[in-house]
Amino acid sequence: MLKLLMLSAITALLLLVEGGMSARTQSRTKRELASPLHLRGIRDPFGSYCQRRGGCCPGRDDQCTVPYQDTICYCDLFCNRTVSDCCPDFWSHCLGTTPPYPPSSCERNGHRFHSGATYKENCNLCTCGQNGRWECELHACLIEDDMIQEINRRGYGWRATNYSQFWGMTLDEGLRYRLGTQRPSRTIMNMNEIQMNMNGNDHLPSYFNAADKWPGKIHEPLDQGNCNASWAFSTSAVASDRISIQSMGHMTPQLSPQNLISCDIRHQGGCSGGRIDGAWWYLRRRGVVTEECYPFSPPQQTPAEVARCMMQSRAVGRGKRQATAHCPNSYSYHNNIYQSTPPYRLSSNENEIMKEIMDNGPVQAIMEVHEDFFVYKSGIYRHTDVNYHKPSEYRKHATHSVRITGWGEERDYNGRTHKYWIAANSWGKNWGEDGYFRIARGVNECEIETFVIGVWGRVTMEDMLNHHHHQGRRK
Ligand SMILES: *[C@@H]1O[C@H](CO)[C@@H](O)[C@H](O)[C@H]1NC(C)=O
Ligand SMILES: *[C@@H]1O[C@H](CO)[C@@H](O)[C@H](O)[C@H]1NC(C)=O
Ligand SMILES: *[C@@H]1O[C@H](CO)[C@@H](O)[C@H](O)[C@H]1NC(C)=O
Repeated sequence: MLKLLMLSAITALLLLVEGGMSARTQSRTKRELASPLHLRGIRDPFGSYCQRRGGCCPGRDDQCTVPYQDTICYCDLFCNRTVSDCCPDFWSHCLGTTPPYPPSSCERNGHRFHSGATYKENCNLCTCGQNGRWECELHACLIEDDMIQEINRRGYGWRATNYSQFWGMTLDEGLRYRLGTQRPSRTIMNMNEIQMNMNGNDHLPSYFNAADKWPGKIHEPLDQGNCNASWAFSTSAVASDRISIQSMGHMTPQLSPQNLISCDIRHQGGCSGGRIDGAWWYLRRRGVVTEECYPFSPPQQTPAEVARCMMQSRAVGRGKRQATAHCPNSYSYHNNIYQSTPPYRLSSNENEIMKEIMDNGPVQAIMEVHEDFFVYKSGIYRHTDVNYHKPSEYRKHATHSVRITGWGEERDYNGRTHKYWIAANSWGKNWGEDGYFRIARGVNECEIETFVIGVWGRVTMEDMLNHHHHQGRRK
């Protein structure tokens, strides 16, 4: 009874001030901009906000607010002017009427939403338009359900799946933030290939996996997150494996991509892309510490913020270098600098690449990543034609770099043999086959045989002895 009385008193007050309002509507603009109530998500049509606040305010009162989703809503009369920033129960609680649904309200799952309300459908934002219909953006998404189903239905020799880490991203975002290797320049492309003397005696087995030949020396795939820096991830991964192999396991450093991303900044873009020739230059001349010492910190926003370099090296004689600082990770004291020799380019000949991997360890390769590669789950990848009938924004590609660690072949039910490479990606271990993928071999699939790089770690007997000394001390 008392409440009802109070309510009508407020309503009377509200009506009283009504006349003086139009003059102030102008200054209202600022408040509207500060609280775009409908722009962040679906409006909650049932909540009791003004009620929980304990009442409504007459006239304009910018303090008369309640937290609402990730913004605020108003319980003062002024909000009625634009509807957009009133709390959902403003009408029922403050005015005792039903909300003035504009003719342009939209329906979804049995609820009505005001014009301007939004929700996200995969990578596209849908907005309730003036015509009472949801209007959705039309970006190609990184995960497209129909593409996954088509790939799995038509049997291309590999299977596709939905990845929650890619859900909600556009294809453009995937290409811009999950890859990050600049195509080598013409000069680099013309780099001489090493001459390999392949003779008939070289037996190349039908299956080879570096992880079997060198157990404990082939490093697990890392996750670059939304950091457009495969240039740093593939380079440090190949160098890590090569140093471990050449030191015969005396050292098995997982080299730090972050050290390259933050410190190899000459002509390099960090998490905004970079060049592998620059990365090898840095590894040779400056060297990097381990991932444990200088851990990767994935960017929290896109485009990524630029991270300050925390670890340089300085010359200490005979080509050796020493870290200038303690490890950025304060739990790690082992700040040894690891360097490589100059990289060398292999020919695009399948057998020469195989021999190199078998003799010396994993190699680095650039690769064109197409839209269907993101959803790869297992099998032998080949770029498919499932999107050929779609508009061109659904069919895009960009350059990436990966680490090839082996090969094999598989017979299908028709008795046809399919040859493949085994390669490590940098999208975490839950992607593909434990972070790895297999891709058709001998046909330059996605240009993976176009530009292949090998390298020697710079490992001396002294390094090995030193390392033993360190290890011994640790125990
Ligand atoms: C609130 O807005 C509605 C629709 O614009 C209008 O009909 C009504 O008179 C307004 N009420 C007050 C108290 O201003
Ligand atoms: C894909 O995964 C996301 C997040 O895990 C989920 O919300 C979405 O419904 C899934 N999409 C399909 C087509 O299964
Ligand atoms: C990602 O890296 C590539 C290669 O360096 C570059 O061309 C592209 O602009 C980068 N994208 C972003 C968003 O930084």
